[in-house]
Amino acid sequence: MGSPTGPVRNRRHYLMCRPTYFAVDYAINPWMDPAAEVDRERAIRQWEALRDLYLELGHRVSEITPVEGLPDMVFAANGALVVDGRVYGARFASAERTPEGPAYLDWFRKAGVSEGFVETSEPKYVNEGEGDFITLDDLILAGTGFRTDAAAHQEAERFLGRPVVTLQLVDPRFYHLDTALCALSGTQIAYYPGAFSAGSRKVLRALYPDALTATEEDAAVLGLNAVCDGSNAILPAEATGLAARLRALGLTVHHVEIDELRKAGGGAKCCTLELRGAPD
Ligand code: ARG
Repeated sequence: MGSPTGPVRNRRHYLMCRPTYFAVDYAINPWMDPAAEVDRERAIRQWEALRDLYLELGHRVSEITPVEGLPDMVFAANGALVVDGRVYGARFASAERTPEGPAYLDWFRKAGVSEGFVETSEPKYVNEGEGDFITLDDLILAGTGFRTDAAAHQEAERFLGRPVVTLQLVDPRFYHLDTALCALSGTQIAYYPGAFSAGSRKVLRALYPDALTATEEDAAVLGLNAVCDGSNAILPAEATGLAARLRALGLTVHHVEIDELRKAGGGAKCCTLELRGAPD
């Protein structure tokens, strides 16, 4: 896996949650301002455009039914971490989002083995799913500092059987790992160094000496909250500098308007949970 050879080989399975009940009613990250105007219809249109783009690119999209009273449930990336058909459930840091953990786990239990989910695990430690875990071919990078407990990194490693490398997040704007780092392929990443502690920057440099390092401008529009399938990169329209650099690497860039959802601190990647099936 890793090197793209065509649309079929790159086909991904994503889980998404329509923002039917989207709102910014509380503030659990610096992007959220409950006094700001939020246009839910516009958020829904932006989300639909993202889903339709995945479908046009040949990916499969499953949808979980949104739950009233859970305005952040649209951020499906936080719902679990799925690797080799093994589902490591989420346990949210905030009371507001806590009911999302069981709601997502329930979806996986119902989808079951026939959909390739061989085992689901209820976590003991706080973790916000793929928001804080970026899966690469040989290892999983994991964020801590704002949401996910470092103990969950070990828990995920034991359950998934893949090495998990802990990274310390230090800038509250980049409270989840997927706001500051994205996988460009199974072996390459892009990241914003300013989001990480000095020690973690060193770890990233050692592991990925050729990584693309993003500017603060691109990071500040959540440009790194991008979805890459190996040949396509889906980015917020504002992340123009990053887009040019990804094109230079040979990726096809697709810009999406996602600013309505960004009012809650999320982008395209946050709306997308990748369902990695069991190896054939
Ligand atoms: N309002 C949500 C929160 O603060 C946004 C989550 C964004 N998700 C992500 N994967 N970064 O929890």
